[in-house]
Amino acid sequence: MKDSASTLTPVPVSDSPALPSMPEWQAFQEAAEQADRKGGTLRIIEAAGLSIDLSAQPSSEAFTEASHALLRVRNFKQMRRELLEGGIVNHTEDRAAWHSMLREPSPTPEVAHERTRLLQFVQRADNERRWRHVLHIGIGGSDWGLRLTVAAFGYTGTWRDIRFVANIDGHAIEGGLSGLNPHETVVVIASKSFTTAETLENAQRAIEWLRAAGVKHPERQLVAVTARPTIARKFGVPKDQIFPFWDWVGGRFSFWSSVCVSAALTVGTDVMAGMLAGAHAMDEHFRTAPINRNAPVQLALAGVANRSVLGFSSLNISVYDSRLFHLVPYLQQLEMESLGKSVTLAGEAVGVPTGPAVWGMPGTDAQHTFFQWLHQGDGAAVDFIVCQQADHRWPDHHQQLIANCLAQREALLRGKSYEDVLAEMDKNTDPEYAKWLAKHKVYPGGRPSSLIVLPRLSPYTLGALIALYEHKVFVQALIWGINPFDQWGVELGKTLTSRIRKDWQNIADGKTVTKMSHDASTQHWLQRFAPRPSQ
Ligand code: F6P
Repeated sequence: MKDSASTLTPVPVSDSPALPSMPEWQAFQEAAEQADRKGGTLRIIEAAGLSIDLSAQPSSEAFTEASHALLRVRNFKQMRRELLEGGIVNHTEDRAAWHSMLREPSPTPEVAHERTRLLQFVQRADNERRWRHVLHIGIGGSDWGLRLTVAAFGYTGTWRDIRFVANIDGHAIEGGLSGLNPHETVVVIASKSFTTAETLENAQRAIEWLRAAGVKHPERQLVAVTARPTIARKFGVPKDQIFPFWDWVGGRFSFWSSVCVSAALTVGTDVMAGMLAGAHAMDEHFRTAPINRNAPVQLALAGVANRSVLGFSSLNISVYDSRLFHLVPYLQQLEMESLGKSVTLAGEAVGVPTGPAVWGMPGTDAQHTFFQWLHQGDGAAVDFIVCQQADHRWPDHHQQLIANCLAQREALLRGKSYEDVLAEMDKNTDPEYAKWLAKHKVYPGGRPSSLIVLPRLSPYTLGALIALYEHKVFVQALIWGINPFDQWGVELGKTLTSRIRKDWQNIADGKTVTKMSHDASTQHWLQRFAPRPSQ
């Protein structure tokens, strides 16, 4: 890794100009506007075992040419190298974003050491049949990847069960603890910073619960995963049960570190190994595939065109595999925490709309919930994700699932014209009524989507899928000129929470709070919620 001291100056404006002023952007914009959006050409990229069909995304020779020029002017190849080789790519926090190192088959000695420690820890616990329950406490990037993995591979049940507690809402910890045997529970506290309020509060409740049940040494049942081992130590976690990771692992990319310990304890270390291998294969694809055959790059270009040129303000994730329902929040954090920015690295306004809102639900539930809006409302770009092979014993269900997925995609792409609707109407229908009704049955079509096919849901393919999105997000940020690795936008809310809690306490203590610096409504509700001292 590079010495960070050399990069403490802001990125010069000339290195990261805002898009509207760039001729390469103007050419890209024009090409995207004029590109074929009716799926005229079959365009499938094979990457790390996945097939990514981009036929329903904007495409033309001019679009390809403009894309190359845009990537060139944004120094794509050099920046990709920086990312994958541990260079400083997170400039506002002055550090690398080297999550790809965590899935290297031959990683740095420190990564290898922690990987082995984790493996031995899980193996020992398994051999000794220790702990019947895992209580995983963590939030955001210290949570979603675990939920995703356990739901994807633990759905048939494993001998050790797991509960997740993330939210500060007391119902979350109450529900998480309910029914567990405290004497057979290991509490995993996952927090990169080890300062996240929700996580520390919930961890305290879990420790109190252990004590109240007569556990003499609650600390023996605690495990911590963090980039701040000293704080975890002070919190009371024994040294040999702390699994450190590094500052250069972003919170939302930390699943690949020892944060996965709870999943390893539940669905097994083989699952984790498979996911690392799949993600590494995608890293290699991203590193080596030519631009036209590079899946993350091509998805990113389509994403930028859809968001910043064609006006689709959101990206819908329609995952046709109910085991992957946690993929939606996982990708929401990955995409929205990374791309929800509007200032370039040089500190200027980006000048075009950036990261889309990401949302979704597994199909076919989604079809009965919001697909109406996708077809005839404002609409969104859609990522359809489906497995070729299922793991259940009802082939007809799988055939129906795939048919639904393909049909929805085709409907979004082709649409249905007024003339076609009219022609299908019963000939005896009153002509005026038919014309009126036909207008309601028109589908505009030309709505962009990608189809991502996993041969089967395996740890390898899920690992590859996640890494595909990680690299796509990196390329989109590069084009927009923003930093995908910081998240300053979450800080203000945290500061205001502390301020509100302080004022709340003052009110509860009966102090005269003369100077509260809140808006009228916040102040009103604070006064109403805070309990008064009894007279
Ligand atoms: O939401 C902000 C955030 O910092 C995320 O980036 C992170 O995944 C989450 O909080 C949890 O942080 P930590 O792992 O430090 O507890």
